[in-house]
Amino acid sequence: MKSLVVYSSQTGNTKKLAEAVHEVLKGEKDIYAIADAPDPDGYDLVAVGFWLQAGKPDLKTADYLPKIGSGKRLFLFATHGAAAGSAHAKNAMDHAKGLAPDADLAGIFSCPGEVNPKILEKVKAKPQTPVWLDDAPNAIGHPDSVDIEKLKLLIDSL
Ligand SMILES: Cc1cc2nc3c(=O)[nH]c(=O)nc-3n(C[C@H](O)[C@H](O)[C@H](O)COP(=O)(O)O)c2cc1C
Repeated sequence: MKSLVVYSSQTGNTKKLAEAVHEVLKGEKDIYAIADAPDPDGYDLVAVGFWLQAGKPDLKTADYLPKIGSGKRLFLFATHGAAAGSAHAKNAMDHAKGLAPDADLAGIFSCPGEVNPKILEKVKAKPQTPVWLDDAPNAIGHPDSVDIEKLKLLIDSL
């Protein structure tokens, strides 16, 4: 089995998850930042990692996911300011799956990721603050070693 890990990460949170996924995957495996990502053809399993932007996968990931068609196993992972298991995070993961409707979903993982303080200041100043803002203080220090271990266990069980 040949696996590809592709990740989009501005501040490094999702990159940490991507490196953990890559470490645990068995068989032949490649890892790429999304800007350099190859075509997913030629891979059996594609793990795509992203950060949430406006309640959805970031734009680069939203462009990449439709390239993953039928016959591919897809593992989705993400970081976000929102709480783990929140409706906001779940909706975003559902949205991501919808961008690759023909792929065979092998698994999903998401966890909080510390939000850049400058971004938080900007978001707080908006007249209408997003739902994830209240959760953002709890994302400080994430992804942590517990998040990474949970993800590794999931990947190990694929
Ligand atoms: C412009 C911008 C928009 C964001 N929008 C959301 C959002 O809609 N929901 C959310 O939970 N987190 C949001 N975040 C927080 C990031 O998704 C989170 O901090 C993530 O861990 C960043 O990942 P990275 O370090 O891999 O770039 C946003 C961050 C930025 C910079």
